[in-house]
Amino acid sequence: MTFQQVYGYEPTVRYSAPGRVNLIGEHTDYNDGYVLPFAIDRRTVASIAQRDDRVLRVASAFDPSSVVELPLDELSPDRMDGWSAYVFGIAWALREHAGADLSDKHGFDVFIESDVPVGAGLSSSAAIECGVALAFNDLWELGLDRKTLARVGQYSENHAVGAPTGIMDQSASLLGEQDAVVFLDCRTLDTAVVDLALEANGLEVLVVDTRVEHAHATGGYKARRDSCEHGAAVMGVEALRDLSVEDLPRAAELLDDETFRRVRHVVTEDQRVLDTVRTLREDGPRAIGDLLVASHESMRDDFEISVPELDLAVSTAMEHGAVGARMTGGGFGGAAIALVDREARGAIAEAVTSAFAAAGYREPTVFTVHAAQGARRD
Ligand code: GLA
Repeated sequence: MTFQQVYGYEPTVRYSAPGRVNLIGEHTDYNDGYVLPFAIDRRTVASIAQRDDRVLRVASAFDPSSVVELPLDELSPDRMDGWSAYVFGIAWALREHAGADLSDKHGFDVFIESDVPVGAGLSSSAAIECGVALAFNDLWELGLDRKTLARVGQYSENHAVGAPTGIMDQSASLLGEQDAVVFLDCRTLDTAVVDLALEANGLEVLVVDTRVEHAHATGGYKARRDSCEHGAAVMGVEALRDLSVEDLPRAAELLDDETFRRVRHVVTEDQRVLDTVRTLREDGPRAIGDLLVASHESMRDDFEISVPELDLAVSTAMEHGAVGARMTGGGFGGAAIALVDREARGAIAEAVTSAFAAAGYREPTVFTVHAAQGARRD
């Protein structure tokens, strides 16, 4: 299905935006902490043409039979549901959050297609949001910068889609660069691009999509976020980012055991991001393996967001010679990553697939990703 088949004419522009993998720094973004994601070479493409009236129409290759439309004057979260909220929500958030005046703007016909796997924790939703945000910003000549567009994407995800997520995914999708990770301070949105240098080191990142579905709008993700806010309040800080490893003994005294372990994950994870950045700069990617594994263990034991499939992917990859491995993204399913020698990739992928079969788990999807450029006009 294409734009042409749905709307009967050709689009005038195409924008695309990538999904992301987080190298390290999980559940730190909404604690004002540090993250280190990269944009991947799996993208969502938005094909667009301007309309003469003030109606937005959206269709997608996932659901080609339905074309949904909404007049710009009726944008509001209760008029959006399903995946179209990722598109309508951006127009709404540009107005509500970034103060864009849409009163004299034209609508668009939009068609979305994507090769970012949905439900794998690789930010297929942020890829739609960011491609559309960049497109609307350009086509409506709003003049917003990419950091503001990331905030717009997050605002839409939080209030139009209804998932209480942080700023990481949209930042990675908008700010990613080839062969590099985005070091982001989620409080200030200051960023630095850090060389990954995988190719020069004979390394690759393997993604193991467990195909265990996760849903962030409900349940565990919000519960973790609430625990973190509770922990910060008891510790008397604005956000867990304001604590360091030296504060943990005091946290152990003041907090109940569960909240303490949630806090310990976030505080040590922030430190691991800083350590990873330093290690990448000084010693290169081969030296970050232990940090990745420590991050996984912290998510498994302290934050309790892993699932047996993710643990098996990580342990099997490590047993078969991966440099490092961890679950990536929000958890409760989704994907793990393994940093592997290029030559070992096939053997590690096979070992993981066999281990899943032996455990009676659904067959995982295993593939390599490369750090790619962020959202752009194609
Ligand atoms: C999801 C959210 C992000 C971040 C991660 C966990 O991907 O969308 O904002 O919180 O989980 O690191």
